[in-house]
Amino acid sequence: MAWRCHALGSVCRHRSSSRSVIMEDHASSDEKGDLRPIERPEPIVRANAVAHVVFERSDVNKMGQFLEDFGFKPCEGTSGATRFFRGYGTFPYCVELIPGERDAFVGFALAASRAEDLQTLADAEGVEIEPCDGPGGGKRVRLTDPDGRRVDFIHGFSAAQRMETRADLVAINTPMDKRRIDAPIRTPVQPAPVFRIGHVVLQTPDFDATAGWYMRRFGFIPSDVQLLPDGSPVLGFFRFNRGAEPADHHSLAILEGPAPALLHISTETFDIEAVGQGHQYLRAQGWTPHWGIGRHKLGSQVFDYWKDSVGDEWEHYADGDVMTDQYPTGYHPLERGSLWSWGDDLPDSMRPSQPAPADAPPRVKAFLEALLKQPRPWLR
Ligand SMILES: [Fe+2]
Repeated sequence: MAWRCHALGSVCRHRSSSRSVIMEDHASSDEKGDLRPIERPEPIVRANAVAHVVFERSDVNKMGQFLEDFGFKPCEGTSGATRFFRGYGTFPYCVELIPGERDAFVGFALAASRAEDLQTLADAEGVEIEPCDGPGGGKRVRLTDPDGRRVDFIHGFSAAQRMETRADLVAINTPMDKRRIDAPIRTPVQPAPVFRIGHVVLQTPDFDATAGWYMRRFGFIPSDVQLLPDGSPVLGFFRFNRGAEPADHHSLAILEGPAPALLHISTETFDIEAVGQGHQYLRAQGWTPHWGIGRHKLGSQVFDYWKDSVGDEWEHYADGDVMTDQYPTGYHPLERGSLWSWGDDLPDSMRPSQPAPADAPPRVKAFLEALLKQPRPWLR
């Protein structure tokens, strides 16, 4: 399905499924290209949450120390060389560290909401259901995505007991509404309590193939999509389809780039105070801050990015957007400035430093040009 959109200079939202596309907002100005709305294939099953991520590490002790300082807790009662770390929420674990020769992202696990969905996916993919071998047990269907990452679809694991944190979210005082009276803010300097894995951000050389693979198998909905001037998608933020139950703005984001890569793992912490105090704690422990604190535009999270023991990026976030299946897909031009509302500009390693060579493909040129444009020159 291809049709014209006149809103590449502004935001355009569409309700889109494999059967229908309804243009909802069409505030238009200049006609710059053909918007190619994301086609959502009929999903085989629907995933419900990101359960855990898996890394190989040559030094699991150093990486384990980072994870503890970041706000995870080692799982009790596990033995063997592989290490497991949990959050304060109810997933039995959030991070698996496999000792190895290399430092690599192995993959991640998505949780099913219904046991029968494992069989449906296993039948569709021609694979067997296997027992899970991490804390909490359960069963899994193990797949490999188009870039070679392990993607497990799991169900039937035992939920962990939620761990205690400090008291609930600090109420906010505004000029018109004083909700916090006789109650000063005195949050402790300590690791930000991480509740769960919020999202995984992947780079892929083929956006359409990788986004299509995840939507087809797990029912992901594109919440917001960024486009090149020719209207083709290059960065997508995808959420789970939980029907009327809200899901995070994105649990998976996919960026087109030269080679498969992990861009970051994001975790949800308690509140904005926890983001700030977690930042102080990580600084005190000597870890490397990467980007933040700031607020994202697409997803609205207050964010803070850190480098782990080998340089992979981890994000704390709080106060992110959640959407039902009714929230329409937003289409935007690819712009560096659209990645954050306030805070510092992207660090050097998250953006290109020079334009594409003259003989680069037009798509690469357009991509680099969009990200090189300095959105807020006063920042540097
Ligand atoms: Fe993120």
